[in-house]
Amino acid sequence: MRYQPAEDSYLLTNILKKELPKLIERNPDLKFLEIGAGSGIHLLTAEKLGVKKENIFSSDIDEDSVKHCNSLGYNCIKSDLFEDIIKKYNLIIFNPPYLPEDSKEPIDSKTATTGGKKGDEIILRFLEQAKDYLNENGKIFLLASSLTPKIDFEKLGYKFKELGCERLFYEQLCVWELII
Ligand SMILES: C[S@@+](CC[C@H](N)C(=O)[O-])C[C@H]1O[C@@H](n2cnc3c(N)ncnc32)[C@H](O)[C@@H]1O
Repeated sequence: MRYQPAEDSYLLTNILKKELPKLIERNPDLKFLEIGAGSGIHLLTAEKLGVKKENIFSSDIDEDSVKHCNSLGYNCIKSDLFEDIIKKYNLIIFNPPYLPEDSKEPIDSKTATTGGKKGDEIILRFLEQAKDYLNENGKIFLLASSLTPKIDFEKLGYKFKELGCERLFYEQLCVWELII
């Protein structure tokens, strides 16, 4: 089931609005990849902010999301994280499923929201793979929640910086910039 943009999507959108213009100024040919493109909101934002459409690439494990992003005119493929990604990118973004498993969660929304038993499995798999898909000086913008176990970015080989957070009623969301 395709994800409807929510607070995590909007926080990442705001971070893109703040950070992407600076990155494009330094590299007008910036190559952009979104893993888990879902609603396509960040693809639209990236294009509006000046990323060349031919440099916007995306993927999702959910077929409906892939079709939807294609119908918006974006290059999007079905892939489990980086399984079918070939090239390298200057910016990789991901607002992942991060909630711990909940037996009451309907199966069809689980793919978009549940990050595994404790909530961090997809993020950890993403971080293990992502370094191989970064261009020199490439960056990752990754969203994480206080509901997910704390991720030890350094242990996974990344330098990190907080780009922005938002406190919601029941959790805190943050976007992290990661480099290797
Ligand atoms: C929280 S949603 C965010 C979607 C989109 N970025 C947005 O804000 O509308 C997470 C997305 O990751 C996708 N996803 C989940 N597991 C994935 C995996 N292993 N590989 C690629 N995408 C995955 C889901 O299908 C969903 O579209």
